Amino acid sequence: MTTTNQGHRLRVGVIGCGHWGKNYVRVLASSAGVELVAVADPAADKLASVRRTWPGVATFTDHRELIASAGCEAVVVATIASTHHAVASAALEAGLHALVEKPFTLTVRDASALIRKAERRRLTLMVAHTFLYNPSVRRIQALLREGVAGDIYYLKARRTHLGLIREDVNAIWDLAPHDISMFLHLLGETPRRIQAVGRSVLKRGREDAAFINLEFPSGIIGSVVVSWADANKERCLDIVGSKARIAFDDLNTLEPVRLFYKGVGPGESLDSNFGEFKYLVRDGDIVSPKIDVQEPLKILCDDFVGAIRDHRQPVSDARLGRDVVAVLARIDAALRRS
Ligand SMILES: NC(=O)c1ccc[n+]([C@@H]2O[C@H](COP(=O)([O-])OP(=O)(O)OC[C@H]3O[C@@H](n4cnc5c(N)ncnc54)[C@H](O)[C@@H]3O)[C@@H](O)[C@H]2O)c1
Repeated sequence: MTTTNQGHRLRVGVIGCGHWGKNYVRVLASSAGVELVAVADPAADKLASVRRTWPGVATFTDHRELIASAGCEAVVVATIASTHHAVASAALEAGLHALVEKPFTLTVRDASALIRKAERRRLTLMVAHTFLYNPSVRRIQALLREGVAGDIYYLKARRTHLGLIREDVNAIWDLAPHDISMFLHLLGETPRRIQAVGRSVLKRGREDAAFINLEFPSGIIGSVVVSWADANKERCLDIVGSKARIAFDDLNTLEPVRLFYKGVGPGESLDSNFGEFKYLVRDGDIVSPKIDVQEPLKILCDDFVGAIRDHRQPVSDARLGRDVVAVLARIDAALRRS
């Protein structure tokens, strides 16, 4: 009895209540269309803290018990990346809709297997690419559709900080899903060529920093720098086009998006036989559009619930999740080559 009744509150469980999972617990506990019924985590102290704040929520140390006996219709999988496939698989096999944290899985094969399971059972399967729900990114998408940037030359993303250092994946699989998902979503294409170099500076046999270059079929190029070993915290995306540069700084709460109407492009032809142009440098306004203040995770959860209720695909669907995993796997392959 999931979805057709508009007044029905979707019974949701959260699996994994760590740094990030506890945000789901908070958001879902106050979502109008949701009844948060259960939380699972092997860490007893995390469950005790959930019970203190939400006494009505059932807690489980084993996600299989939550899936089997909590009466959930849907689950959020917010465990560490290496467990996503097994946990999501168990939920789908039990007939539950699933919202899986990024990175969706660690192989394309596992991602495809989950998609097949969900399709066979007509279940909603969504991947939590949070930045697709960030009001700044949504505004940038609208600006690009309006042609504000002109022809896009390149995208340049930087995501650096000290930590949080993962034990199961490298910095690319942990951090780059955000940038790759934005690139694929904004451009509507996947890269045809990938180059990457990375370094294991902490000597744990996993890359802690990487520089990634991408080339898309349209000719647009992209660069992503990720590091969890950098004292400078950056969360930036620049989109440089023929008419303007769009700069997104997720750490700038006052002006997260700025438009620089400055740039360079070909001007009048000097010699048509040789295709020589006089290049024109434009120096224009800098504009910061008003961005709605709304928590991306709340918008993301609403999309998950709406997709189940209305039998539609969410914005961040599992196919995009798999496309992102495919790019991450190719980045890993490019790293090995380099
Ligand atoms: N979308 C975003 O913006 C965003 C931000 C941060 C983290 N994440 C993602 O969220 C996931 C969790 O990250 P985190 O920072 O919370 O990690 P974390 O290590 O703090 O938390 C993971 C939790 O999962 C629990 N866990 C492990 N296996 C479990 C299982 N089988 N059943 C139930 N619980 C289990 C652990 O005990 C821990 O409490 C990762 O995939 C990460 O990439 C996404």
